[in-house]
Amino acid sequence: MGRSPDSVLSCVDMNGEALADGVLRYAFGQLLGNNGYVHLVGVPEDFDHVAFLKELGDFQPTPTGTVVGDVKPERGMDDVNHGQNRGGLTPHTEGYEFRGLPPRYLALWCVVPPSGPGGETTMLDGDRILAEFSDEERGRLHDTVYRWGSTEGLARHGVTPTAEHPVLERHENGLILRFSSNYLIVPEGDELARRLIDRGNVLFAEKHIAVRYQPRDMVVWDNWRMLHSRNAFQDPARHLKRVQIAAA
Ligand SMILES: [Fe+2]
Repeated sequence: MGRSPDSVLSCVDMNGEALADGVLRYAFGQLLGNNGYVHLVGVPEDFDHVAFLKELGDFQPTPTGTVVGDVKPERGMDDVNHGQNRGGLTPHTEGYEFRGLPPRYLALWCVVPPSGPGGETTMLDGDRILAEFSDEERGRLHDTVYRWGSTEGLARHGVTPTAEHPVLERHENGLILRFSSNYLIVPEGDELARRLIDRGNVLFAEKHIAVRYQPRDMVVWDNWRMLHSRNAFQDPARHLKRVQIAAA
């Protein structure tokens, strides 16, 4: 089990009154910066998720061209590692398989929560992994360029990107961490990359945050810092909406 979320923000006060927009946005920005993610709860029926997210930056389309996406199980995809099925995923950051900058933020909000067990979005602060590596090792993660593959699920949609990036990249707006348990291609004998993946997986399993959705709940996280994944589920009706927000 993951520890209980510590970055939960309610859209309503103790009297059930909706927070003023400026108050909500201020608290949201503080939590996102401090903790790397925010789980928005108590979301009113008339809340406009898209309008709220537009304040964070420009939306970045997915590889298949979607801007505001639907995350629903697709038929015939349960046998591969892919977002659009009911399987669990392995820990990753988004966008490692593409050239250029990965999306800065990811947002998921709930249309239909899954009944029954599973279906939580899970996350881990990548800083917890990097803390186990020395300055010299982190320097090598900056300086070594790795090849990154992509999922079988994307391949089945005709998208088979590969890219070359270091694990750590400096950017004027912060440090970028890229991580994939399965698709960071570890060169023969590269014990640093092997340990990064192995420790990342162990820490994710032990320390992750698990978000269980109520209708309209939204999770937003800093994709340059946080790893994310998902627990497997059964209910084919589970339906989330998904947006990627580009680097400013
Ligand atoms: Fe993902």
